[in-house]
Amino acid sequence: MDVITTVEGLRAARAGLGQLGLVPTMGYLHEGHLSLVRQARRECGAAAASIFVNPTQFGPSEDFTRYPRDLERDLRLLEAEGVALVFVPEVAEMYPEGFGTAVVLPAADEVLEGAARPDHFRGVATVVCKLLNIVQPTRAYFGQKDAQQTVVVRQMVRDLNMPTQIVVAPTVREADGLAMSSRNSYLTPEQRAAAPALYRALTAASGLLADGERRGDALRQAMAEVLAGEPLARPEYVSAADPLTLRELDAVGPRGALLSLAVRVGQVRLIDNLLVE
Ligand code: PAJ
Repeated sequence: MDVITTVEGLRAARAGLGQLGLVPTMGYLHEGHLSLVRQARRECGAAAASIFVNPTQFGPSEDFTRYPRDLERDLRLLEAEGVALVFVPEVAEMYPEGFGTAVVLPAADEVLEGAARPDHFRGVATVVCKLLNIVQPTRAYFGQKDAQQTVVVRQMVRDLNMPTQIVVAPTVREADGLAMSSRNSYLTPEQRAAAPALYRALTAASGLLADGERRGDALRQAMAEVLAGEPLARPEYVSAADPLTLRELDAVGPRGALLSLAVRVGQVRLIDNLLVE
């Protein structure tokens, strides 16, 4: 496994490979990340991963400096998965002095995570664009866990005619339903015990939908009620939105619904979603 820190080095190593699947990450890897790596390897033959905690997608009051990091462990896990190439750039390699371009999708900033986290998707789109240009993978793999991120990346790739195929893989969960996340490591045992309320709220709403409920308000209300029953959970938003436009639905139509929520458990901000087709 080649571990490479420079753009130039990455380009040289990539040139020796044919089909390649890329899994962009911010590290502190868990089974969610590794499931993407396995799929990349299975479908492309060779897999690459990037580990880069991207400062530009964190807000000023967010957790960039204390975001969990364990590079040695990450590299061991990737090696065990048979990854060919790991790109681990420093911030100055990705954003050298004079860096001045951004990829902006204004519509993304109006809803859900974009509305809650100003400039977040500008940071995500810009860094993913750079990673795809640097690595030039055949396919790039993203988790459904970050639903709006997948919508943003797909739109960017389509709008800018980028040749990489985007693949979205299902959310990997703990046994009690909690979506795996590097940020789960911030939770105290008490908060960890409260965190499955997110998935319970989502399944309550998807259960209603399966029973024929079509009203967006009723679905949002069902999620809010479950969360209200968990004293440690403070909801930021609950949403039943169109899966493509991410606009809140009055009524669920043939495209189905993206049920999603953001909840604070203590200081930890957790997100989760279910795509119901
Ligand atoms: P990160 O949070 O490290 O996630 C890397 C990839 O793993 C993302 O595509 C994310 O959706 C996926 N992922 C996270 N948890 C998952 C789970 N439980 N099941 C399945 N997939 C999961 O997302 C980012 O990093 C960054 O925004 C990035 C795309 C790397 C750009 O900086």
